[in-house]
Amino acid sequence: MKKTLLTGIQPSGNPHIGNYFGMMKQVVDMQDEYTTLPFIANLHSLNTIQNAEEMKKNITNVVIDYLAIGLDPKKVTLFKQSDVPQTTELCWIFNTIVTMPYLMRAHAFKDAEAKNKEISVGTFDYPILMAADILIQDTDVVPVGKDQQQHVEMARDIAEKFNRIYGETFKLPEAIIKKEVAVVQGTDGQKMSKSYGNTIPLFTSEEETEKIVMTIAMDSKGIEEKKNPDDYNLYKIAKLFVNKEQDTEIRAMFENGGVGYAEIKKYTAKIINDYLRPMREKRKELEKNPERVLEILEKGGKIANERAEKKMMNVRKKCGLR
Ligand code: ADP
Ligand code: TRP
Repeated sequence: MKKTLLTGIQPSGNPHIGNYFGMMKQVVDMQDEYTTLPFIANLHSLNTIQNAEEMKKNITNVVIDYLAIGLDPKKVTLFKQSDVPQTTELCWIFNTIVTMPYLMRAHAFKDAEAKNKEISVGTFDYPILMAADILIQDTDVVPVGKDQQQHVEMARDIAEKFNRIYGETFKLPEAIIKKEVAVVQGTDGQKMSKSYGNTIPLFTSEEETEKIVMTIAMDSKGIEEKKNPDDYNLYKIAKLFVNKEQDTEIRAMFENGGVGYAEIKKYTAKIINDYLRPMREKRKELEKNPERVLEILEKGGKIANERAEKKMMNVRKKCGLR
């Protein structure tokens, strides 16, 4: 029996290379080995996207993104969270066993609070809905970036607590976080994130990619100085894309001195564009047939819904609801 892999991505617009290396690529790399359930976390996204047209467009786009990077809809169950409404039912049940102080420890909540943001109940409850996503599908592993680790740990805690109260029901999921790509840095050296405006989009033109790479922050060392590539954000980004030869070449540019930053950046942009070109071309093809996206989601939604319903029958019984 294959183990189950599940992960969610919010339909929040253009994915960046941090999303790709931190999470999306893992799903593609693991799709043969696991029963794979990637889904579009559109219910989570209602906290930020409150416009039907934008929501619909973004959902179609995420599916196309995933297909373009090599996810095979014949192998995986790709679905929309909202096609599994049992998740919100389970979320409610979890709401009744999780305490406020526990949820107040969530990083996302603490960050929002520190910034004095007005926090919706949905944002506060975010980790519980995520726990329901994971646990309702009997998930073994959850590939995510480092920033989601706490949420997966919370899902484990919630599973344990439910099992303690109502008897053995849920598997304890594990996060899979690839060390080398746990945090992909943005053009300014902070974690790459849509909310920081420091991203390199996965799907954009080659010209735009080069333009963005040219803005990566460097230092004021002279051209002739020898430099350690590992000290530079530019190299850390390039390293995600290089083959062996390119790695040797770019390291030499730093280590030997004599090459200006503009030139190293141009070379990096070329490496990035070469790597991403096939996916970008595939995406352009896929864009021509959005109906296919709807078919894939419909089929995936049915399968995910059936699995969840089976699980919920058991949960309802355990809680004395049926
Ligand atoms: P963003 O911070 O840009 O809004 P999301 O929060 O939507 O990104 O993240 C989607 C997925 O991509 C998550 O699994 C997250 O851990 C991963 N991810 C996001 N940014 C990075 C990054 N800079 N490095 C590694 N993984 C990332
Ligand atoms: N919180 C995740 C993010 O922002 C998205 C998500 C929702 C998720 N439910 C999930 C990820 C379940 C993994 C498993 O990226």
